Amino acid sequence: MSKIILTGDRPTGPLHIGHYVGSLRRRVELQNSGEFDRIFVMIADAQALTDNADNPEKVRQNIVQVALDYLSCGLDPEKTTLFIQSQVSELTEMTFFYMNLVTVQRLQRNPTVKQEILVRGFNESEGDEAANKRGIPAGFFAYPVSQAADITAFKATHVPVGEDQEPMLEQTREIVRKFNATYGPVLVEPEIMLPDNAACLRLPGTDGKAKMSKSLGNCIYLSDSAETVRTKVRGMFTDPNHLQVSDPGKVEGNTVFTYLDAFCKDEHFDRFGDCFHGKKVSFDFHSLDEVKAQYRAGGLGDVMVKNFLTEVLNDTLEPIRARRAELERNIPYVFDVLRKGSEEARKVAAQTIAEMKRAMRINYFDKEVLEGLIADFAAKQASAE
Ligand code: TRP
Repeated sequence: MSKIILTGDRPTGPLHIGHYVGSLRRRVELQNSGEFDRIFVMIADAQALTDNADNPEKVRQNIVQVALDYLSCGLDPEKTTLFIQSQVSELTEMTFFYMNLVTVQRLQRNPTVKQEILVRGFNESEGDEAANKRGIPAGFFAYPVSQAADITAFKATHVPVGEDQEPMLEQTREIVRKFNATYGPVLVEPEIMLPDNAACLRLPGTDGKAKMSKSLGNCIYLSDSAETVRTKVRGMFTDPNHLQVSDPGKVEGNTVFTYLDAFCKDEHFDRFGDCFHGKKVSFDFHSLDEVKAQYRAGGLGDVMVKNFLTEVLNDTLEPIRARRAELERNIPYVFDVLRKGSEEARKVAAQTIAEMKRAMRINYFDKEVLEGLIADFAAKQASAE
């Protein structure tokens, strides 16, 4: 069986380094591994609209931002089909049929959607009053069904995403099984591919909060300048009890170390080891484990570790920034990639929906089917006479 990847992001803001370690870096590796027959990466504008219906301009403006993030991180349109969800109308069509295979009760149990409803204040008992009055948009409530369409339209076998997407994958697999059992074996059950490094599973925000999120203002964006990265790292959450440099420090739950776990490689010590050479204290570290040991023992200050982290982050982001600057000078090219990708994606989705309609027996106007319908009617008439 062919190995096919589908994944994507909502265009509600530029992508941040949480996206990078959680998914983008991995996608580029998967793309270049040559192990997959096809790779689709989707800008999920229709999903973004499920809770931004009154702000389409935000979604619209962010499409090019996300596309720039993709291309500057190394997704290559020769190897990966980059497309815009709303331009593949077959996805909307599939969603409507899948709705019949899912109960409202099942949708209500989706923990990610539950959490999002709380955060957005759509819930009746919490959140802001204006959002309460608006209630939960039905489209938002049902977006996991549309996500099942995104995945199955391309017969994706692998979906690399963060762990918050696990409930969507589970629901997709249920829909696939229900569809295949009801209408015949058309759809493919996908499997989730989670990031392998624990620090990358859910990179915390710079304030140490559970997750990087635009609304919390705790993100480092891929498009941030080197200076902005420095400022954001300087303000980062560490160990609140590490008051004196000489105090022993905690590494667990210390955001600076979580970021180092996600980004630091041994070679960084050859190039940025100087960060640990101070006037009063000086260390010769060769691995992150050595830094952690010293931090735990005491004597290593936050400033040194933060300076090192800034270098590590900027070293990772610099080539991405350079490619972005180049691409920003050629925006028509970026849109051209998206247009061509959307056309390609549409061809694949059209093929799948044709198979679905055949299995569901709603392909009335296919030649033999139409002949059969006419013949059936005639036979019934004859037997009634
Ligand atoms: N829900 C994903 C997110 O919020 C975006 C998305 C939409 C997606 N459709 C998808 C991811 C299909 C993987 C597969 O980031």
